[in-house]
Amino acid sequence: MAPCSRPSSSSLLQGRRCRTPSHTSRVYTRPSRSSFFRASSSSFQASTRNETASGDTPPDLPVKQGASRFWIPIPAFLCLLFQPGTSRRTTRTELVKGQIWGFDQLQGVLNVLVNVRMTVVRMKNGNLLVYSPIAPTEECLQLVRELGGEVEYIILPTTALEHKIYFGPFARKFPKAKAYAAPGQWSFPVPLPLSFLGLGFRRLDGTLTDEASDFPFADEFDLALLEAPLGIGPYVECAFYHKRSRTMLLVDAAVCVPNSPPTVARSPENDRTLLIRARQDVNDGASYLGGIVDDYDRAVDQVPRTDQKRQEGWWKTALFALFFQPSDLDFDFVKAFVNQSADSGFVWRDSYKSTFQNLSEKVIVAPILQALVFNKRPTTVANWVKKVSSWGFDKFIPCHFDAPVKATGRDIRLAFASFLDEDLADLGSPQLSSALDNVVPTRALRSSYNKDDMKILNTLDTIVVASGVVKLEKKQTTKGANV
Ligand SMILES: [Fe+2]
Repeated sequence: MAPCSRPSSSSLLQGRRCRTPSHTSRVYTRPSRSSFFRASSSSFQASTRNETASGDTPPDLPVKQGASRFWIPIPAFLCLLFQPGTSRRTTRTELVKGQIWGFDQLQGVLNVLVNVRMTVVRMKNGNLLVYSPIAPTEECLQLVRELGGEVEYIILPTTALEHKIYFGPFARKFPKAKAYAAPGQWSFPVPLPLSFLGLGFRRLDGTLTDEASDFPFADEFDLALLEAPLGIGPYVECAFYHKRSRTMLLVDAAVCVPNSPPTVARSPENDRTLLIRARQDVNDGASYLGGIVDDYDRAVDQVPRTDQKRQEGWWKTALFALFFQPSDLDFDFVKAFVNQSADSGFVWRDSYKSTFQNLSEKVIVAPILQALVFNKRPTTVANWVKKVSSWGFDKFIPCHFDAPVKATGRDIRLAFASFLDEDLADLGSPQLSSALDNVVPTRALRSSYNKDDMKILNTLDTIVVASGVVKLEKKQTTKGANV
């Protein structure tokens, strides 16, 4: 359980604190390789790396020894950019004792890798419900089977590509399980049904709705469906509430970024990308400027494999993942060209540390969802927030970053109110903060993010709105809203 504490009134929008796992380190010899994006292929190098005795205690990773981590994305052409390629380590963590487990793998592009999580719930009859599957490697499947009980339900609760690519391949491994998917599935640039996204001839047993009573697991779960337009297809996310454990399952809508890297990110196979990021401090850059082709690899391998360096790398990685172009980051084209590595061109100013600390270990709504998705349908989103906030959860488990996050409906309301209340006021809808004690509704409560970090996302939003691809909610559509 995350040891979170209730925020003070002055920091209500900062949410609750998340846990900071302790961890240890290992040391490896250097792989030698050079290419412009050489670091992007680090995961492929991992299996060829020679581990050296370091005297450090290895991280406590509950993995299945000897089980294959091999996996090929299908259809591959949709997933070419997804790291870490064909070898994916899975870690399993018991999130609610005897009831809920998180299975984490690493996922990303261009060396910005964060954890993606599958949540498995043991139901009253002893069988399992799988929420948002991950890549069904042999290791992953063995870790699931170790729990005992049959996989009875497999849920695709989202339309997001980075989650749905695993649904079909995973569902095919459990042909007796009932498979349900969120409505509005789409793909880009070619519109393909789930059958072409790995589901094959596997039958879909139904489409998720807002009514739990439509499903055979209704006595154990409540459901809340959130839909907002993206232009090329809808954003859809279905929250599940597991009543017995008082736990809400989410995909992307709210997250909590931990202070330290997730276990799977600091695993020996995966920590190189964190070390690369750690190398990019403004004070480190000069050491490989003007070097020969292989200099950058050497520079990276000079980074001590310590928890502190992994943490520095994690902080920068998280800022990349959240903002795409963090304001604390500069790019040195000359350095990148000389070293034939895009990564070597990134130079972080020390201010990134305070930027990270301002948003970490709190209940937040990802900047991209704030700027490009949820602001398109404020009333719809607010009604969804109202519904999930009425559930009696005391923690939630998202599909990224930390879990479980100790939080209540109040924390979720405040996280959304920070960016949605101003739009709700403009639309004449009740503000999310208006139903909360000790919070004075204002046009806009304090956002978790500074405007410089949001610049690129706000620019994209301006372009999307100006293009007319996505229509904004109009004031008259808010009649009847009951927030
Ligand atoms: Fe996601």
